[in-house]
Amino acid sequence: MPLLSLGALPERLDTERLFLRPYRVGDARWYFTMGQRNLAHLERHESGNTVFGIHCVDDAAGVLRGFTKHWQERTAFALGVFLQGSEEFAGQLYLEVTHAGLPALNLGFFADCTHVNRGYMTEAAQRGLVFAFAELGAHRVGLWCDDTNVPSRRIAERCGFRLEGHVREDKRHADGSITGSLCYGLLRGEFEPESSRQA
Ligand SMILES: CC(C)(COP(=O)(O)OP(=O)(O)OC[C@H]1O[C@@H](n2cnc3c(N)ncnc32)[C@H](O)[C@@H]1OP(=O)(O)O)[C@@H](O)C(=O)NCCC(=O)NCCS
Repeated sequence: MPLLSLGALPERLDTERLFLRPYRVGDARWYFTMGQRNLAHLERHESGNTVFGIHCVDDAAGVLRGFTKHWQERTAFALGVFLQGSEEFAGQLYLEVTHAGLPALNLGFFADCTHVNRGYMTEAAQRGLVFAFAELGAHRVGLWCDDTNVPSRRIAERCGFRLEGHVREDKRHADGSITGSLCYGLLRGEFEPESSRQA
C-alpha cells in the first residue's frame, strides 16, 4: 500500500498574510490559554476538539506531543495558523489521513475567536490544500461539517470543494437540537490553487 509522500515535509507554509507550522511542545503555555479562550466558540461545532481535554499547561504539552507524534508518523498534520509579522495565533488546520493507500485525508479547522471574519481560515485552508495535494500527494481531501455551520460551508465552497452528500439528523447537541452533516470532497484533478483561479 503506498504511503503518503516519503519526501521531507516543509516546516513552514506561507501565504500572503499568514504562516502555518506544526506545533512544538514549547507552545504548551499559550496553547493552554488559547484553548481556554476558545471553549465557548468551539462548543457547538467542534465538541470533539482536543482543547476540551486540556485543563492545565501539562495537558496542553501532552496534546502537542501527540500532534508531533502523528506528524512524524504521517497519520495527521496539525498546523497552527499565525499572522505574518506579529506571529499572533489566528486558527488551526488539521489534516487527518483517512486512507493511506489512496491517499485520502480529511480537513478540519477552527479560527481563533478573536480572528473570525477576516478571511484567514479560507486563506489557510487553501494553503493546507496545496500541502495536501502537492506535498503529501493526496488524491482526495474530504471535509465534513454540520448542516447549520454556514461559515464552514462557505470555506469549503470558496476552496472549490463539491458537496457530495447530506446525512440528515445524525446528531443531537447539548441544547437538545438535532442537526445533520454535510460531506464535501475535492479530488486532485479538480483542485485549482487560488493563484491559478480566475477572479
Ligand atoms: C468555521 C470558521 C473557521 C469560519 O470562520 P470565518 O472567519 O467565517 O472564515 P474565514 O476566516 O475564511 O473568513 C471568511 C469571512 O471573512 C470575510 N472577510 C473579511 N475581511 C476579509 C478579507 N480581507 N479577505 C477575505 N475575506 C474577508 C469574508 O467575506 C468571509 O465572510 P462571508 O463568508 O460572510 O463572506 C469559524 O466560524 C470557526 O472557527 N467556527 C468554530 C469551529 C468550526 O465550526 N470549525 C469547523 C468545523 S467543520
